[in-house]
Amino acid sequence: MTVTDIEPEPEPAQRAGGVASVRIVRVVRETDDAVSLELAPADGHAGRFGYKPGQFLTLRIPSALTGSVSRCYSLSSAPHEEGPLKVTVKRTVEGYGSNWLCDNAVEGMSLDVLPPAGLFTPSTLDTDLLLFGGGSGITPVLSILKSALAQGSGHVTLIYANQHENSIIFAAELAELAAAHPDRLLVLHWLQSVQGLPTVEQLAALAKPWAEREAFVCGPAPFMAAVSAAMTSLGADRKRVHSEKFVSLSGNPFETDSTAVDVEAAAADGETATVEVELDGENHEITWPRKRTLLDVLLAKGLEAPFSCREGACSACVCRVVSGEVTMRRNEVLEDDDLADGYVLACQAIPVTDDVSVTYS
Ligand SMILES: Cc1cc2nc3c(=O)[nH]c(=O)nc-3n(C[C@H](O)[C@H](O)[C@H](O)COP(=O)(O)OP(=O)(O)OC[C@H]3O[C@@H](n4cnc5c(N)ncnc54)[C@H](O)[C@@H]3O)c2cc1C
Ligand code: FES
Repeated sequence: MTVTDIEPEPEPAQRAGGVASVRIVRVVRETDDAVSLELAPADGHAGRFGYKPGQFLTLRIPSALTGSVSRCYSLSSAPHEEGPLKVTVKRTVEGYGSNWLCDNAVEGMSLDVLPPAGLFTPSTLDTDLLLFGGGSGITPVLSILKSALAQGSGHVTLIYANQHENSIIFAAELAELAAAHPDRLLVLHWLQSVQGLPTVEQLAALAKPWAEREAFVCGPAPFMAAVSAAMTSLGADRKRVHSEKFVSLSGNPFETDSTAVDVEAAAADGETATVEVELDGENHEITWPRKRTLLDVLLAKGLEAPFSCREGACSACVCRVVSGEVTMRRNEVLEDDDLADGYVLACQAIPVTDDVSVTYS
């Protein structure tokens, strides 16, 4: 079964918004309840899949009930590997999308995806890193870890929590990396079956020698909360502790017809601002109806601005305000230091000043 069995797939040139297509080239059973999907871009789409370690894809998963649901999956591959893109999906109890993928994804199947996005990536690989992974939260963390070892110069410590030994995703790959980089990589495993759930105090004791490092945290919500509290108790600078939340999208960017936003009518109805946008190396000056989000306006103009959730929850649409001011309706993902650096979510941004300039570079 392929996505195209559910709905005919348009030719690449006709695809709406940023939607691209990939083919599953291999399915790897990682553990009893996790699979990796190795993906190759469809012909003509390869140029849309450049990515940074820690970024994610948004997959369109067929549903007989709703046509499709969309779910984000971090890339567990690393950009320098030059092999297929890889996402790793762990079953969520009673979850729809993860179980569909674990049960139905087969070699040769085509999937619609939104290209790589996200802010959970180191600003430099030439620094010492402290990484935390809980269960499937290892996926973006592994990508960062592999990139740092292959392309950076710093030391890496990974604290990796799992329920039991058989549920450790990438156990063999991590052991090989640790053996290949004994002086740069330290992997500390925590097994709930042996040690119980890690407490804030236990995590703080483990992390203490490396608390000054840039930290990246991904895993179940209670694990992330405990790590965050542990790092705070160690006096870590909040700006240096980055986290990625694994949540399901409630909206469906694949089913939203962006071109249906009538920007001209909205502009005629109310006040407008002007926005200058630098996107993919080109500059555009666009009239911005004040009640429309920046992303709506850009997509309606036919520009391929990045996005995924359109709910202010994933950061795929992030851009930076160079001049002027915007406000966001909702922001569940940008932290204070991101805001201080001028980053905003285009899917939530509406203008405050008459003239705004933003860049996606
Ligand atoms: C940036 C990002 C990266 C991610 N990367 C990964 C990754 O690398 N690997 C990975 O495995 N996951 C990843 N995720 C999580 C992934 O996107 C999904 O959230 C996850 O697979 C669960 O989706 P699902 O469709 O199986 O579960 P859902 O169907 O969304 O269900 C999730 C939970 O909600 C409950 N639920 C569902 N519907 C209802 C309802 N109506 N009322 C009450 N409860 C309900 C279910 O019982 C289940 O426990 C990532 C998420 C984000 C945002
Ligand atoms: S598209 Fe997800 S935050 Fe804007």
